[in-house]
Amino acid sequence: MAATAAPLRQRVLRRDIWWLEPAALAVLFAVFVVYSAVVGVANEHYYYGPYLSPFYSPCITANCAHFTFGVPIIGEWWNLAPAIWIVAFPLAFRATCYYYRKAYYRSYFWSPAACSVPDARAKYGGETKFPFVMQNIHRYTWYPAVALVFILSYDVILAFRFPTASGGAAFGIGLGTLLMLANVVLIGLYTFSCHACRYLFGGRHDRFHTRPLAYRLWSLISVLNGRHGQYAILSLISVGLTDLYIRLLSMGVIPFDPRIVF
Ligand code: FES
Repeated sequence: MAATAAPLRQRVLRRDIWWLEPAALAVLFAVFVVYSAVVGVANEHYYYGPYLSPFYSPCITANCAHFTFGVPIIGEWWNLAPAIWIVAFPLAFRATCYYYRKAYYRSYFWSPAACSVPDARAKYGGETKFPFVMQNIHRYTWYPAVALVFILSYDVILAFRFPTASGGAAFGIGLGTLLMLANVVLIGLYTFSCHACRYLFGGRHDRFHTRPLAYRLWSLISVLNGRHGQYAILSLISVGLTDLYIRLLSMGVIPFDPRIVF
């Protein structure tokens, strides 16, 4: 007679601390969203020459402390903070990112919370209905994200130019320069390890043997893509820390910026 298995009483059989990662990410995302909302509308302490906060770059409104393109592109519309004009682009890119989708579906929806852990919901609707069907815009959000990498790189170049007493500028390196540099490197790694980027540069081709350059690019991006989740988290933290450092300098909480000016 065939033996029948006893019904399981526990819903989860895993014995490791599987809930730690989704819980930690839930806290990190909540802290970042609250912090970015507060500094985004604050409209002050985002510039401490020659450093510009990544939340406010490009700075394009007439009330900017520092114009990214030399002149304002948008007038004094309702005295809105310059960050409000910019935030939609990185927000759309990150919110629809494959890694972030996995992370926040797990952390907030428990759908599912982890491997071998049942869904918190009885029904699974996937991403076929509104609002989740909007996740399909991700490939289009990649283009403004690339433009932002170049703009932030320009900010880093400016962060090597320190004002002198005579009114000119001298080459130098400060702690803020290094933070801005690290931030743009991490954002660049995050942007160019994107799945949509891998598809664009090689994944869309059916065969590689006639496209050696596409194969090389696809191979390189695939290496970066293997660490996409790490770049996603590290770049999120670096954006927050870079802004915080510039903000605390501007507020006078940090009394000086260690720097060498030549
Ligand atoms: S998949 Fe994460 S940024 Fe594109």
